[in-house]
Amino acid sequence: MDRLLINGGVSLEGEIRIAGAKNSALPILAATLLTHETVQICNLPHLYDITTMLELLGCMGVQPIVDEKLNVEVDSSTIQHFSAPYELVKTMRASILVLGPLLTRYGKAEVALPGGCAIGSRPVNLHISALEAMGATIVVEDGYIKASIDGKLKGAHIFMDLVTVTGTENVMMAATLAEGQTVIENAAREPEVVDLANCLVEMGADISGQGTDTIVVNGVDELKGCSYSVMPDRIETGTYLIAAAATRGHIKVKDTRPDILESVLSKLEQVGAEIKVGENWIELDMHGQRPHSVSVRTAPYPAFPTDMQAQFTALNSVADGTGSITETVFENRFMHVHEMNRMGASIKVEGNTVIVEGVDALKGAPVMATDLRASASLIIAGLVSENETSVDRIYHIDRGYECIEEKLQLLGARIRRVPA
Ligand code: UD1
Repeated sequence: MDRLLINGGVSLEGEIRIAGAKNSALPILAATLLTHETVQICNLPHLYDITTMLELLGCMGVQPIVDEKLNVEVDSSTIQHFSAPYELVKTMRASILVLGPLLTRYGKAEVALPGGCAIGSRPVNLHISALEAMGATIVVEDGYIKASIDGKLKGAHIFMDLVTVTGTENVMMAATLAEGQTVIENAAREPEVVDLANCLVEMGADISGQGTDTIVVNGVDELKGCSYSVMPDRIETGTYLIAAAATRGHIKVKDTRPDILESVLSKLEQVGAEIKVGENWIELDMHGQRPHSVSVRTAPYPAFPTDMQAQFTALNSVADGTGSITETVFENRFMHVHEMNRMGASIKVEGNTVIVEGVDALKGAPVMATDLRASASLIIAGLVSENETSVDRIYHIDRGYECIEEKLQLLGARIRRVPA
């Protein structure tokens, strides 16, 4: 298994481009199942999770084509199977996103039940109950969610007990071809939900309220093909900015969107960074200063994202002062803490909060990545360490960060991939 070797102590300097957002590319790929016409998707990131979603479409008999500009064209009219097998679902829980589109367009779907994962049990009960409210018959047997509907799904008034991103996306996609109106209350307001909604509207869907907590979808008879460019990845953007702040650096990230990163940029200002923004770029300058500790509390958008707390834990570990990180979205998202403590950090876990006392520097050590964002935080810890850090199990990072070592090298980091 490949490892990343990092020799820390370098302040990041320079410019990089941000890729398309994984978390909107995945539902948009699933949405191609809603039409028999060709959908062209541009700005897809080159990530393992995207390959998994393309493979999942392939298993169903749909063959995505990559064109000369690396855009992907999906024509789902060749579909033969309506099932997402366990082998793929276990590597990527977002496979659940094909449930709504398959059910609403073909009247049947079987999706392996995602199990627990490194960050908690992550149930999909809200996806199931919402589709049942729209008239679907759903049984869970032999490890599969087996869903069917006689005729069409019916629009319904759905109140989501918890804010769920993929749950909102699944129901929104299902509602596009349902009979009548669906209202989703307590809907997720994440920018990726809005990006999916905008793509669906391009495909002919009648959706309003995306970006608010009430989304209204009026079902239409059919959707058509379109060409759609995926929005920039705000989590990738934030990760590089945090890495630059932790290393007292000065970087500019391009092809991104400052307007969807407000909670993160305001924390970076509290850390002591000077932030400048343009329409599609963000520049961060620490003027060589050590960061100050900050406290963050995760919650659904527009509050601070859970996908960025591990990176701030790494920053706090070498910051001036003591900061706390409170996780309210997932139950077990502190696996990186034990690895950071092995690198000399001073972090205590108290329930769903970690208290981080900043130290002068971390010491490189062999560490193991446990999930996608935890692995990003361990790379940041490696960048602020004296001597060498080796990060193992980096397949997690390849799921969500495009060419991470090349981009960090462009910023001056001493990082390389070592094949097994
Ligand atoms: C998505 C993102 C992930 C991000 C998360 C929270 C994708 C592909 N992934 O994951 O990167 O960390 O949002 O911003 O977009 N829950 C239930 N029942 C359900 C569904 C969810 O109890 O049926 C709970 C979850 O266990 C969790 C919370 O709701 O505690 C939020 O999870 P959710 O928003 O659904 O996360 P994902 O959509 O899986």
